[in-house]
Amino acid sequence: MQLMAVDELREGMVLAQDVVSDAFVNIVTESTIVNQDIIDRLEKLDIEFVYVHSEMVTEEETDFSESEPVFDRLDGEEALNYNFNKTVGRIKNIFNDLKFGVADIKSEMDDTLDPLLHGIIDNNNILSSLRVMKYDDDYTLRHSVNVGLLSAMIGKWYGLSKQQVAELSLAGTLHDIGKSKIPRYILNKPGELSTQEFGIAQQHVVYGYEILKESLGFSEAVCEGVLYHHERFNGSGYPQGLKGNNIPLYARIIAIADVFDALTSDKVYQGKISPFLAADLIKSMSFEELDPEISNMFLKKLAEFYVGNKVLLSTGEEGEIIYLNKFSLTKPLIQVGTKFVDLSMKTEIKIKEVL
Ligand SMILES: [Fe+2]
Repeated sequence: MQLMAVDELREGMVLAQDVVSDAFVNIVTESTIVNQDIIDRLEKLDIEFVYVHSEMVTEEETDFSESEPVFDRLDGEEALNYNFNKTVGRIKNIFNDLKFGVADIKSEMDDTLDPLLHGIIDNNNILSSLRVMKYDDDYTLRHSVNVGLLSAMIGKWYGLSKQQVAELSLAGTLHDIGKSKIPRYILNKPGELSTQEFGIAQQHVVYGYEILKESLGFSEAVCEGVLYHHERFNGSGYPQGLKGNNIPLYARIIAIADVFDALTSDKVYQGKISPFLAADLIKSMSFEELDPEISNMFLKKLAEFYVGNKVLLSTGEEGEIIYLNKFSLTKPLIQVGTKFVDLSMKTEIKIKEVL
């Protein structure tokens, strides 16, 4: 690790520490591969020095149009971040190409999702990975890859075959590909959409289905996973208002991943919320809108994962998750100093943040 002046930074260098502004706002996170956008942003914010790793990613490796090589010099988190960023870059290419009407989606996706999937799914490591992976770009792109990985992980926990898990990761990653055909002013509108705008935005599921059908190589199951990801278990979703198990399995899984990631990611107009608050919302949705069996399985895995984690409570106190309440998974027992707080009894106290 070495300290480097921002005006000497070059594309392909890897940040060794988070870059934080004077106001303690995280500007770029550790393990990010430097590109010109990041250099420009740092200069604009008058950041003079950053820490970088001594090794850098070569030019060919940062070129998202190249399929090789998988980044193996960096370990664990760095490799993960590299593969994540590479996949997001591919999605970006696809979205851009689709604006001109053509994109070779299948070959763009084939060799990039695999290494990422293996790094995460094989190790049941999705929840810590999602906290590691950072990408400073369009929310839709980052969200796409997160949903692909979360969907695949949920599929694996649900006992699906390797091939189904791979299909789910594709369908999840491409679930919002139809947004490439929706006008930007609607996608980026800060306030509520009018009824007419909402109707246009909803079309993204049909566009997504059509795009995948037209590009060769996607199974019907993948296409339908995209078409039906906004259907809701009680029939309140779109485009067809399908109910219960009439909604294809991939779409039911993607819906859960989509809601969870949207709630726990920083979006432009809404701060992120803790995984426990998101879990509470998913739990309440599981009575009506989301598949109850898959939701419950997901919540159980989620809660188990966070045992032993430090958390910030809505009281402002910090504590550690000690024990899960079997009947109320999202309200565990917390140790705060020498006292214990049972969130299933003290329902007014929430987990504000996982630290
Ligand atoms: Fe969507």
